Amino acid sequence: MEEKSFRWTYLLGSDGTNMAGLSVLVVGGGGREHAICIGLSQSESVSEIHCAPGNAGTSKIATNHNFSEVADLIHLAFQLDVDFVVAGPEAPLCEGLSDLLAKMDIPCFGPVASLARLEGSKLHAKQVMEANNVPTAKFHVLSKDSDIDAALDDFSGNPWVIKRDVLAGGKGVVVTEDRSEAEEFIKQSISTDGSVLLEDFLPGEEASMLVVMDGSGYVCLPASQDHKREFEGDKGRNTGGMGAYAPAPVYTQSVHEKTVERIVEPMHNYLSSRKVPYRGVLYCGLMIDNKGDPYVVEFNVRFGDPECQITLPLIKSDLGKMLHAAANDQLESVNVEFSDKHAVTVVLAAENYPGAVEKGRQIHNIPQDSDDGWVNHAGTKISEGVLVSNGGRVLSCTGLGDSLQEAANIAYSIIDKIELSGSHYRRDIGHKAL
Ligand code: AMP
Ligand code: GLY
Repeated sequence: MEEKSFRWTYLLGSDGTNMAGLSVLVVGGGGREHAICIGLSQSESVSEIHCAPGNAGTSKIATNHNFSEVADLIHLAFQLDVDFVVAGPEAPLCEGLSDLLAKMDIPCFGPVASLARLEGSKLHAKQVMEANNVPTAKFHVLSKDSDIDAALDDFSGNPWVIKRDVLAGGKGVVVTEDRSEAEEFIKQSISTDGSVLLEDFLPGEEASMLVVMDGSGYVCLPASQDHKREFEGDKGRNTGGMGAYAPAPVYTQSVHEKTVERIVEPMHNYLSSRKVPYRGVLYCGLMIDNKGDPYVVEFNVRFGDPECQITLPLIKSDLGKMLHAAANDQLESVNVEFSDKHAVTVVLAAENYPGAVEKGRQIHNIPQDSDDGWVNHAGTKISEGVLVSNGGRVLSCTGLGDSLQEAANIAYSIIDKIELSGSHYRRDIGHKAL
């Protein structure tokens, strides 16, 4: 342990010694995890990358291992003797990935299960916000069908916002002006989950603020904006995210100051004072009203997908060093630097996504990656030597430029060339800022 802590100070550097040669296991297999692997592959501090289960993109820069169950991941991390683990998705964190790794002395970038509940339970998140005076929509918990009518009356005048209190893979929230749809969703949620949250509708514009934190400190990453609806003009069904860009101009310096004072500081004070501090990234999904006041719509305990694909490329300093430091409560001793570029990513989705999709369709004509434009693989795999689709969000095409327009032009010039039968993508990523 002593030898390791010496090595971490903080991985030393340019003129002297040891840039550590860290080995890391990245958990997950989407566009986010490919972006993390790309960032790590460009980190001087990292010499060996594993990914489980990974995808066709990660296989080019990491060793893929076909495991997803927490017990298998723990075993894998132990066998590989990695220096640390980076958790992509929330589910393994809620199941105790980080807690179990800690028992084996393997640091994890990603919080322990009791803190991952900030994403796993909307009610828990609300209670934590209430206790720490963090601004968010007022809410009401419903657990009896007989209370539905009166509650819908109480919250009327705006669309009803209804949230299931379980991890629902992006399908746990309904925002609707249709009373019978609201009633139906509430009834169904009460019968499957026992209770459901009804909350005030917050008007405004959304932004995602990702904050890397640990027991020693925190670092706010450049704010981004996701596009969650399936079609242009924010129409259609909710998806995991159809594209994103950063930095988001709606998140001004003044909004940032309020966000830090009202949300980030109180959350960090709370999370860093737990028995095991929060180590990972806290995704603050914000609604910014017309006075520039930020409210929390949701917390996630991981990088957003696709926000990760456009946030990490804006970090100029060594990503491996930052993630490793945060997994070890050493963030304060690391200097994190950002570039002044803009990044845009556009998701190529399979036919019928976000509904059920057919997998195994061939993908052709992916252009060569360059320093300012590349493809993040998400639902892809190699089957009999051929690249095929393997999920709903198949690829995300990322451009980096001196302006948002330039970054968008690059992303679109890549995605326009790719062939995947039935696939679709939004043409208006970044439109609000352009
Ligand atoms: P969540 O999973 O909590 O982020 O909710 C999914 C989406 O529903 C958000 O990205 C918002 O677009 C919308 N939403 C959630 N809560 C609210 C709210 N209180 N007011 C307005 N829109 C909301
Ligand atoms: N892009 C939204 C999320 O990752 O939850």
